[in-house]
Amino acid sequence: MAKPIDNIIVAQIDALLTNETNVIANLSNASALLKSEVDDLNWAGFYLYDETSESLDLGPFQGEVACMHIAKGAGVCGTALANREILRVPNVHEFPGHIACDSASNSEIVLPLIKDDHIIGVLDIDSPSLDRFTESDEETLTKFRDALLTHIDIKSLDRV
Ligand code: SME
Repeated sequence: MAKPIDNIIVAQIDALLTNETNVIANLSNASALLKSEVDDLNWAGFYLYDETSESLDLGPFQGEVACMHIAKGAGVCGTALANREILRVPNVHEFPGHIACDSASNSEIVLPLIKDDHIIGVLDIDSPSLDRFTESDEETLTKFRDALLTHIDIKSLDRV
């Protein structure tokens, strides 16, 4: 059994990113924090939305080499983005259209990143264990995502 995700990551991300404005640096450290603090993960990172191609492009992450582009509506990430909802998938092999980037992944949670109605992308967290993420983990990760969003300047996203 994986350890529950500790709420401390919410305070940690807030402290880490205070007065920091570089989007790439902030997302990079956010993925590193998740990978080091959350038990039983094989991948944690971001896909950033490109409005022109209507797809998600690989962003800062920790883990194995991953898919570079995911179409809106495709796989877990693209579906969470299209529906603007958190997707917690206990068994990715049962999710229609799941994109298997890392064969070690068995469960995952994807949280859309939307700020002031601007779609930034998604936070994707994968585990080698089935049913890794509980409802309580989802609540903690939602708080983490919301804290992170306060440190993302959407105007600077146009430059990355
Ligand atoms: N599993 C994801 C693809 C991204 S990788 O797991 C990093 C999906 O189906 O959206």
